[in-house]
Amino acid sequence: MRVDIITLLPQIFEKVFDESVLGSAVKNGLIDIVMHQFRDYGDGRHKTVDDTPFGGGPGMVFKPSPLVNCIRDVRKMSIPAPVIGLTPQGVSFNQDLVKELAQFDRIILVCGRYEGFDERIIHEFDFQLSIGDYVLTGGEIAAMTVVDAVSRMIPGTVGCQDSVIQDSFYEGMLDHPQYTRPSIWEGLEVPEVLQNGNHALINKYRRSRSLLTTSVSRPDVFATCDLSDSDKEIFQELIDSSSSE
Ligand SMILES: C[S@@+](CC[C@H](N)C(=O)[O-])C[C@H]1O[C@@H](n2cnc3c(N)ncnc32)[C@H](O)[C@@H]1O
Repeated sequence: MRVDIITLLPQIFEKVFDESVLGSAVKNGLIDIVMHQFRDYGDGRHKTVDDTPFGGGPGMVFKPSPLVNCIRDVRKMSIPAPVIGLTPQGVSFNQDLVKELAQFDRIILVCGRYEGFDERIIHEFDFQLSIGDYVLTGGEIAAMTVVDAVSRMIPGTVGCQDSVIQDSFYEGMLDHPQYTRPSIWEGLEVPEVLQNGNHALINKYRRSRSLLTTSVSRPDVFATCDLSDSDKEIFQELIDSSSSE
């Protein structure tokens, strides 16, 4: 997959895309990240890309021409790709969208700064994407988030693809709690069922914890999950055991 990132700060991506799981995916050619410094498209001797807002108010706004000219050039550099503007007004980023984006062979991410984009730039985006209901200083961390989450969907990026499938949100439910050695730490014991080697019981226990955590911590997510007959049975057992306590 090729990811083009349009930004004023290409240098801040270096460490993130050089190290660890993402770094290996880049080195192994699973993901090709191409940075574009859009100041190169700025106006005049100072390569200006921003100006004060019409109507007054604080901060600076990205001017239309430099960014749109850059986006149009980047679009033409390779195969067709959706241009995604990173903005707090965009659709909320979630695991379903991660899976959808991973289907593309190429995506283009556009990072804002300052007070954001002149509204007329928005027409150049195929859609806008928000990583959450809060405001960052720039779109770069949002772009890193998108690349990180999407690259995990590309087979080979994460050593064990089973772990990706079992992670929170992949199939809707949150992950079950995990434990490692020692079996007792500061008086807290690892549940006995995880230590007895009975895989049927371990799977049932883990599923029950996933159901419990999701229903308690994220009732909104739980409401959207399709429960299998066995899930319904396990969930009923949880309800019965809590009402008998
Ligand atoms: C300081 S913000 C601009 C905020 C804008 N004035 C507003 O209130 O909607 C600068 C840039 O950071 C990026 N950004 C901030 N929050 C974001 C979020 N939740 N998701 C994606 N990008 C975000 C966008 O690219 C935005 O143009």
